[in-house]
Amino acid sequence: MIITIDGPAAAGKGTLAASLAKKYNLAYFDTGMVYRAVGLEMLLNGYDLSDNKKAEAFAENLTFPKMMELSKNPEFRSLNGSRAASAVAAMPKVREALLQMQQNFSHNPVFADGSKADGAIYDGRDTGTVICPHADIKFFVTASPEVRAMRRFKEYQEKGQAANYEEVLEQTIARDKNDYARAGSQPAADAIHFDTSDLSIDEVFNQVCAIIEKKQAAV
Ligand code: DC
Repeated sequence: MIITIDGPAAAGKGTLAASLAKKYNLAYFDTGMVYRAVGLEMLLNGYDLSDNKKAEAFAENLTFPKMMELSKNPEFRSLNGSRAASAVAAMPKVREALLQMQQNFSHNPVFADGSKADGAIYDGRDTGTVICPHADIKFFVTASPEVRAMRRFKEYQEKGQAANYEEVLEQTIARDKNDYARAGSQPAADAIHFDTSDLSIDEVFNQVCAIIEKKQAAV
């Protein structure tokens, strides 16, 4: 079974995807990581974020183990890291270079320890449209920019990273614009929509599980 969860930053996709992966014993691919990895390489090597050629070269050479290694860097999910990821994700050739790696995972899904899984859950922006258009179930999860910015702000606070709410809100709106300007990042026509602004994590999880189980019972 392949499940995709797309939607804007901090809509609750990651938490939902990780809980679903655990419950249904699926491998999990957080596809934002591929762009974060390339963005971080740019930062670590001191390259300008508008240098398409350098970003393309990093994207072409990215491997799963390399991405996992980079994800241990504290900058990987920082405000700076997010900005860098969003910049490289807007480059069509970077996206093209990272496509195969993301699609291969659905043919050969593996858990974090390398063991084989029977299916996968993806989260990202274009997983139900470009990466896995034939996924069994597709979700599109969103929330208002204010709610999403507050969630991100709290995450930064919990990690002890410097941030202020206004700046996070501004960046959330800027990233939405950047992330949604391109083809493939709109919801798939057959995606099931969830607005999580007024729902708790448990409420979203329970509703999504009910849909998955109904779908499983029907096959
Ligand atoms: O989900 P995230 O915040 O970790 O994503 C990091 C960046 O990567 C974000 O700016 C959007 C981009 N992204 C994308 O363009 N396509 C995806 N499938 C996943 C993420």
